[in-house]
Amino acid sequence: MDSIVVQGGTALQGKIKIAGAKNAALTLMPATLLSEEPLTLTNAPRLSDIQTMTALLQSLGVEVTSMQDGKVQVLSSHAMTSTTADYEIVRKMRASNLVLGPLLARHHQAVVSLPGGCAIGARPMDIHVTALETMGAEIELKDGYLHATAKGGLKGARVPLRFASVGATENVLMAATLAKGTTIIENAAREPEIVDLAHCLRRMGAQIEGEGTSTITIEGVDRLGAATHPVVTDRIELGTYMLAPVFAGGEVECIGGRLDLVQSFAEKLDAAGVAVTETADGLKVARKNGRPSAVNVTTEVFPGFPTDLQAQMMAMLCTAKGTSVLEEKIFENRFMHAPELIRMGADIEVHGGTATVHGVERLKGAPVMATDLRASVSLILAGLAAEGETVVSRVYHLDRGYEHVEEKLSAVGAKIERVAGS
Ligand code: EPZ
Repeated sequence: MDSIVVQGGTALQGKIKIAGAKNAALTLMPATLLSEEPLTLTNAPRLSDIQTMTALLQSLGVEVTSMQDGKVQVLSSHAMTSTTADYEIVRKMRASNLVLGPLLARHHQAVVSLPGGCAIGARPMDIHVTALETMGAEIELKDGYLHATAKGGLKGARVPLRFASVGATENVLMAATLAKGTTIIENAAREPEIVDLAHCLRRMGAQIEGEGTSTITIEGVDRLGAATHPVVTDRIELGTYMLAPVFAGGEVECIGGRLDLVQSFAEKLDAAGVAVTETADGLKVARKNGRPSAVNVTTEVFPGFPTDLQAQMMAMLCTAKGTSVLEEKIFENRFMHAPELIRMGADIEVHGGTATVHGVERLKGAPVMATDLRASVSLILAGLAAEGETVVSRVYHLDRGYEHVEEKLSAVGAKIERVAGS
């Protein structure tokens, strides 16, 4: 397993290009199952999760052609061979469950393995199942697989979600495009990735209104056609690299960054004494005066503070002036980066879903271990500011969601390299 070695203390200067959003691409790719016409995605990110989704779709018979070094993906499901998403693939990536809605909508059947838990939580699928049953699906759990059928196809319905689940909203949104009649999703997730999916489905011929609000209305149509769609900018990669100069000093311009994608995050940075400036090409970030100030953070559904930036923010607050309180309200176990940051000299107390961070002057480099995607990048960022050398192991987590992180950071002056593992 590869490791990443970071020498702390070098100020950063330059531009970082932000890639297309992993969490948009992972719901856009299964949308190809809704039509026998080809779907072309541009600005696609080059990540191992995208390769996993490609393998899953290919196991169903979807043709996936990758071009321009993976930035363009052409998908076609005109020759499907299966409607079963196998545990071997699904257990590696929860987003595999996003084939459930499209398969039910167009093929009226699906067998999808439950993803099983992951490091950050149990991550059940009850909201997905209840919603699709409301649309007429019959879904039974057998041997760890959801066996779903929709005799005669899905029917439009009023679908209230007990929680604004991103994945459940995406599954229902895709399913509703081919259902008979009108579907109204209530308490829908409002994330930019939902909006991007709706834009893509509309290009395919879907009739959708209200994406980005809590109520989305979909008029089912008989079939969807071909489309070409650019994947929206990755707001989590954006937020991650916006923090890099806050740790290391200097100034970085995130090319392609949009303030509307990270509004609540940018407001917290402003409160912490970080300058975020909109430029013609993106967002420029620099510390205003030395160490940032402590701020309190509570993760919420969009447009609240994103849970996927909580670990990165905690790492930044480890060397802020004062004490910060972070509340993780979305997942039940998303503080695994805390013990690793403590190994670097951070002063953090975790009680359940609340972490209290007492800022220290400086962290010290140490060997640390990545546990999940966002925790791993928070340790890299901490290494940029730490005194001495930090070695982050198990970086396969990192490759799931960040394109060539060591290349992007070394291009702006960071002393960082990837060391091939045994
Ligand atoms: C998406 O996961 C993202 N993944 C996650 O990003 C992100 O953290 C999450 O949304 C929240 O924003 C993708 O888009 C591929 P949820 P998802 O359904 O859809 C509970 C990353 O780092 N829940 O909104 O799985 C669930 O257990 C990843 O890129 C149920 O209880 O998130 C969790 O506690 C990590 N029952 C909460 O809701 C359900 O049926 C949020 O889950 C569904 C969810």
